[in-house]
Amino acid sequence: MSEREGSQRERGATRAGRPAPAPGALSEERAQSEREVRTTWRAPGRVNLIGEHTDYNDGYVLPLALPYATTAAVERRGDGRLAVHSAQQSEADALLAVADLEPGSVDGWAAYVAGVVWVFREAGHEPGGITVTVDGDVPQGAGLSSSAALECSVAAALADLLGLGLPPAELALLAQRAENAFVGVPSGVMDQMASMLCTEAHALFLDCRSLRAEQVPLDLASAGLAILVVDTRTPHQLTDGAYARRRKACEQACAILGVPALRDVTDLYTALARLGDLPDGAELRRRVRHVVTENDRVLATVAALRAGRPAELGPLMSASHASLRDDYEVTVPQLDVAAAAAEEAGALGARMTGAGFGGCMLALVPAEGAGAVEDAVRAAYRAEGFAEPGFFPAVPSGGAHRIG
Ligand code: GLA
Repeated sequence: MSEREGSQRERGATRAGRPAPAPGALSEERAQSEREVRTTWRAPGRVNLIGEHTDYNDGYVLPLALPYATTAAVERRGDGRLAVHSAQQSEADALLAVADLEPGSVDGWAAYVAGVVWVFREAGHEPGGITVTVDGDVPQGAGLSSSAALECSVAAALADLLGLGLPPAELALLAQRAENAFVGVPSGVMDQMASMLCTEAHALFLDCRSLRAEQVPLDLASAGLAILVVDTRTPHQLTDGAYARRRKACEQACAILGVPALRDVTDLYTALARLGDLPDGAELRRRVRHVVTENDRVLATVAALRAGRPAELGPLMSASHASLRDDYEVTVPQLDVAAAAAEEAGALGARMTGAGFGGCMLALVPAEGAGAVEDAVRAAYRAEGFAEPGFFPAVPSGGAHRIG
């Protein structure tokens, strides 16, 4: 059982337990019944330290949650409808009959909320009519999992409202299913698991096949290091098909190699040789090489962290970036320029994070040297005529939790 699951269960037990009547009992009862009609959860976005495009290959990932999050307040309503409001979106609020929800019936950001409600119904957890009000500060389109934060905040709040007592990992799977089956983005499970399971001061080492999760302490400060996030301000879109094509290529390679997932390729040399002669073989070889070597880099990163040698992450991050650029072909010039400029200015390593095609980059920097790296990236962007980048430190934060 993960730490989060543990604390979740403890909270559930406390709530379910009936304390002896005391002077505060009446107000406690009122609080309990208020919770039955309304509950609010907060779920964070993430950056992935390493392990990119490995999750849907049954591989390993190592994300950490950010202090940026989405909150979802979920409230019962009697008319069987789903009403969706957002503090951030100017689009008209959605009002839909819950019973009529089906994939394709809702567009835009509201689809992520409606998808979760639909998935609950499909799983036999009838939600009834509900109003969902969302607010948040996860930058959108920056590859920081604003979608997973939204799905997970709604899923956790809804499960709480319905008193389902579902473990966080199960909520993550429901949220992923909403994204896959309702919104139509074939994402893996990393983002939702990170949003549900991460804990402060740790990275989440997740085996995406067994879903075994381990909290790995991420103490960079005592080694005089920090992770700087560079937002390239290049919007990233997963719905445009490039992500789905990468996933398909992996499935195609598995079929040819006769393995259930690229995780199962143990002899890379032989696998590459087998793909070598086929039409499309060169592309499939590159895709396979990325996934297989990236899994190894995650394991090496976890080993370095466990051994208290975080500086070793630098070269692993840089190798990951090169592999994503040359073999997986998901970087864009803004990511490559930022990574190169960061390294020239003293970063120990740098890599894109998330799906790629834009979004953010991570640089492992000496804590004292973060300013110099920022200046170098800014100057390189100006020289290239790119938009002004954004910067913030990656502070490993806690996963989804109830706030009201
Ligand atoms: C996106 C997806 C994840 C994962 C990453 C790439 O964030 O949602 O499931 O595949 O891309 O590692």
